[in-house]
Amino acid sequence: MAKAMPAIKEWQVNRMHGRDFLDFNDITSDELHYLLSLAETIKRKQKQGEVYQPLLRKTLGMIFTKASTRTRVSFEVGMYQLGGHALFLSGNDIQIGRGEPIADTAKVLSRYVDGIMIRTFAHEDVEQLAVHADIPVINGLTDLHHPCQVMADILTIKEQKGDLQGLTVAYVGDGNNMAHSWIQAAPKLGLNMRVATPKGYECDPAVVEQAKQWAAEYGTELLLTNDPVEAVQGADVIYTDVWASMGQEAEQAERVKLFADYQVNEQLCAHAKPDYIFMHCLPAHRGEEVTADIIDGLHSVVFDEAENRLHVQKAVLVAVMA
Ligand code: CP
Ligand code: NVA
Repeated sequence: MAKAMPAIKEWQVNRMHGRDFLDFNDITSDELHYLLSLAETIKRKQKQGEVYQPLLRKTLGMIFTKASTRTRVSFEVGMYQLGGHALFLSGNDIQIGRGEPIADTAKVLSRYVDGIMIRTFAHEDVEQLAVHADIPVINGLTDLHHPCQVMADILTIKEQKGDLQGLTVAYVGDGNNMAHSWIQAAPKLGLNMRVATPKGYECDPAVVEQAKQWAAEYGTELLLTNDPVEAVQGADVIYTDVWASMGQEAEQAERVKLFADYQVNEQLCAHAKPDYIFMHCLPAHRGEEVTADIIDGLHSVVFDEAENRLHVQKAVLVAVMA
């Protein structure tokens, strides 16, 4: 009789070695399921106190030209737990902030470190970094995408609901990086996706076009609307994000007025399924995009999402760097 496959085998299947993790564009449905399963195993091992160090003596360079709490801490702690080391490289302190070309930065860092995580403004800058680096590049948020956050969110939904297939996620608010990563990933995991944004703050048309094609291919719903009630009707998940993202601080006051009807509050949540979960990538502005009673209430899983950043990112790091 064949022996049961030892659990460790899962760790040795390194299907994404050397790859970049920039957005969900070139990640297949199978790879997403693989990363989620790896994340579940890594989380279980961590909770059981098992030492697992596939990245022993490996170093991750972490470039930040925007602020961060979760991304910085979870990547640094994740690298440590995997046996490696993370370097915090502030955009203000490295030469990139004084105009050193991205291509040169990519080539230099490739001689020192084993992977780069970058949080910055233009998505094209991250793509350029990836083109010129000989090592994997991971997107820790750009103006266009935030794939690590959506991976953590999806793991959280799986934990809460058991299965992803056929669930409906309603995103209410700005058509921003979070919304983009959500509409890219959802079809590949069998999730129906609804996005309600104010007029003029819809998602990027190119990202939408691509997401529509995947929704058709995978047979999932993709609804884009300006009506938050239509989006939330019968939803399993209600998701929101800040109304003014990093870099849009000057628009904050204007957006607070324009987005007022898109607040996630008790009245809006009453349209969702009775067992809906509330999600937010954080940081949150209570009293703006979400009321305190919702984000701090019984349906909220926001701190599970934050924790799961650690576990899914460890899976991504192992997949591309081990
Ligand atoms: N959600 C998220 O990316 O948080 P930080 O901005 O704190 O990294
Ligand atoms: N849309 C937000 C997400 C923060 C994690 C921003 O870009 O600021």
